[in-house]
Amino acid sequence: MNSAGESNGTRVLLVYYSYTGQTQKVLDAAADVLRERGCEVTLAPIEFVDPQYSEPFTRFPMRSVWPDMFSVYKAQGRGETGEIRTPDAVRDGRYDLVIFGSPTWWDTVSMPLRSFLESGDAKALLDGTPYAVVTVCRRLWRGNLEAVRELADKQGGRFADSIHFEYPGGQLTSLLSLASYLGSGEYKERYLGVKIPTTNISAGQVDQARSFAGRLADRLFGGR
Ligand SMILES: Cc1cc2nc3c(=O)[nH]c(=O)nc-3n(C[C@H](O)[C@H](O)[C@H](O)COP(=O)(O)O)c2cc1C
Repeated sequence: MNSAGESNGTRVLLVYYSYTGQTQKVLDAAADVLRERGCEVTLAPIEFVDPQYSEPFTRFPMRSVWPDMFSVYKAQGRGETGEIRTPDAVRDGRYDLVIFGSPTWWDTVSMPLRSFLESGDAKALLDGTPYAVVTVCRRLWRGNLEAVRELADKQGGRFADSIHFEYPGGQLTSLLSLASYLGSGEYKERYLGVKIPTTNISAGQVDQARSFAGRLADRLFGGR
């Protein structure tokens, strides 16, 4: 529905995993824009419930940041999948567009989103359907995007567009800043004595997500 309450008849589904809410933040902004354009928009957050790997991600901040971050390192490298739960919306017929929100975990797609992308539900959802990818990370977005595209294409999806969001700082300082945030839940000036940049999605990046969604809607549904 748009602000006048009129629907343009298009259905958009946003499927994502979000541990600290950064991916959620940019997708919420994209969803608002699509609704303003008259699309029927549904958000479908993935729940990570794997008995072996999900425990560190059931609380925020992390209890023990480095071991908790590394707890999925090997599994990520092997491209393992795990147990997830998804809303019924992912099994609710055809959509005109699916947008994936994908935080980077160890240079690739996170286990929760990979688990969805490799599922039978993803096959039914993506068969011939246009999809877009929003990657969110500290720095390493390319491997994540490539993995999502490979898996989504394999399930029959048609790639439409992508956007990536990175956090400020160099390789080391952005990592320290992220570790500081994940371990404390707060923004600090220093970590381990080192001055650190800000981390996480900025207001400017939320605006970029809005513009991205607007351009996508113009291109795919402009005539409707
Ligand atoms: C287990 C784990 C591994 C991560 N690995 C990377 C990485 O390899 N490269 C990177 O740029 N960011 C990495 N990050 C940072 C996340 O991409 C970043 O925290 C992002 O904000 C998560 O989004 P979310 O809050 O929506 O889950 C990692 C975060 C976690 C929790």
